[in-house]
Amino acid sequence: MSHRQNIVTIDGPSGVGKSTISRRVAQALSFTYLDTGAMYRAVGLKLKDAGLAKGDDESALRQCLDTISLDLFPAAEGSDDVGVILDGRDVSQEIRSPEMSMIASRVSALPVVREKLTHMQQEIGKKGEIVAEGRDTGTVVFPGAAWKFYLDAAPEVRMQRRAKQLRSKGESVDEEELLEMIIKRDRDDQARSIAPLCKAKDALLIDTGGLTIEEVTAAMLEVIRKEFSRVGS
Ligand code: DC
Repeated sequence: MSHRQNIVTIDGPSGVGKSTISRRVAQALSFTYLDTGAMYRAVGLKLKDAGLAKGDDESALRQCLDTISLDLFPAAEGSDDVGVILDGRDVSQEIRSPEMSMIASRVSALPVVREKLTHMQQEIGKKGEIVAEGRDTGTVVFPGAAWKFYLDAAPEVRMQRRAKQLRSKGESVDEEELLEMIIKRDRDDQARSIAPLCKAKDALLIDTGGLTIEEVTAAMLEVIRKEFSRVGS
């Protein structure tokens, strides 16, 4: 185990509680929380604004991504969501809309986008002490991570959680439409040819359906701490 990276990966579909849990696990370990989804969302916004979200013009895409400046900062008080500065502009709110979720999912299937963001994420993870959250962090970005988790829950459970989140921000929710979007996004994320959403062979699967955030976090920390002494940094 000593050759493994001092990194925790947490993958799974949307609405399984990944963000809250990842943030808490990172806090408990004094590791940095890396929200890779926020990076895909920011790139989605950049490509949308540039009229390139379809992804059919590869050289324009490359050019656009070459100049991207992306900074993540810790969630504001009372929020679970990491903040993002895209090309000097705070887009933290803008990237969290249901529309941006779908655009992020769409652009995340583009090879140029994945190549760029995977590289950026690996650079951030070089020093270790990272809790990386996303869809492919255990399979592609950090295959050598010491601790890998895959969180899952039934689509209806995840829809209810997402609805609660959106309502708490004052947004109105059409539950049927939200469920459809969740199922479509899962399907697209799982079906893409590069780095699809899937459980790494060596990841521990946790169904968060019947569990509280506290219970999941505690179970994960127990696994990590048990193995901690066996992992070199
Ligand atoms: O975790 P999220 O909902 O913020 O992610 C938004 C989209 O970004 C998701 O539908 C798929 C994509 N994504 C990805 O392809 N790979 C990741 N590691 C993280 C997110």
